[in-house]
Amino acid sequence: MVDQPAAAEKAADIQTRTVEDPVVEAQDVSMAFGSNTLFRDVTFQVAKGEVFVILGGSGCGKSTLLKLMIGLYDPTAGRTKILGQDLHAASGDARRHLLARLGVMWQSGALFGSMTLLENVMLPLEEHTRLPREAREEVARVKLGLVGLSDAANRLPAEISGGMAKRAGIARAMALDPPVLFLDEPSAGLDPITSAGLDQLIKDLARDLGTTFVVVTHELQSILAIGDRCIMLDKQAKGMIAEGDPRELRDHATHPTVRAFFRREAM
Ligand SMILES: Nc1ncnc2c1ncn2[C@@H]1O[C@H](COP(=O)(O)OP(=O)(O)OP(=O)(O)O)[C@@H](O)[C@H]1O
Ligand SMILES: [Mg+2]
Repeated sequence: MVDQPAAAEKAADIQTRTVEDPVVEAQDVSMAFGSNTLFRDVTFQVAKGEVFVILGGSGCGKSTLLKLMIGLYDPTAGRTKILGQDLHAASGDARRHLLARLGVMWQSGALFGSMTLLENVMLPLEEHTRLPREAREEVARVKLGLVGLSDAANRLPAEISGGMAKRAGIARAMALDPPVLFLDEPSAGLDPITSAGLDQLIKDLARDLGTTFVVVTHELQSILAIGDRCIMLDKQAKGMIAEGDPRELRDHATHPTVRAFFRREAM
């Protein structure tokens, strides 16, 4: 009974929303590694063409949630779906087909250092298509063009800046024209101006191509700039403490941790 006020407070910042034909959905998802429960009952839906942001402090399970969504881990309870299909239940060709429709850029960004940017972007096309080399190269050039790297196609990762590497990572994640892109901390380690440029790129791609983005970040500026919607995970609460429009949460959140985050207040 003592924790009732806390529960009410928590619910106040969670504006649950359902959409028609969600691109990504999580239903009562819980995840634990052994006895270490990261989160329980995470539920949300992502609509087509929106930029959906997952935020929360270090170690609350953001990257793990992303990995669950793309089928790298199975949840301990609940389920996730992508494009209406349960990746965890799919096997063989159905699973491979579904995986080929997701683009992912990891926190580390990892490009292959011995390959040019063009070759890096061509890689998924080599793995998942039977396109001849000229066609693969053509597609890869188009993707590099989309992220503003046409002139750097023949450079090696060591010869470009951090911001360019992130762009190249996005180009590679987009090689197969995925309807949904997952980005883990795309602006980590970038200066504010480069980071703002990357935000603009994400917004442009969502608007112009209708690509759906699921982005993990804890950069407040970035969340307010690109997020159509967000959820906030919390390590102490072991679950979601907020869901909604980031600007509304900034102005109206009641949970102390959510307020502290959006208003940059000390707790
Ligand atoms: N494969 C794994 N096996 C066991 N524990 C793991 C595994 N992956 C992550 N963890 C633990 O789960 C917790 C959450 O990790 P996760 O990487 O999801 O956090 P995060 O929110 O992405 O943090 P950050 O903001 O630092 O990237 C951490 O305590 C981590 O040690
Ligand atoms: Mg992480």
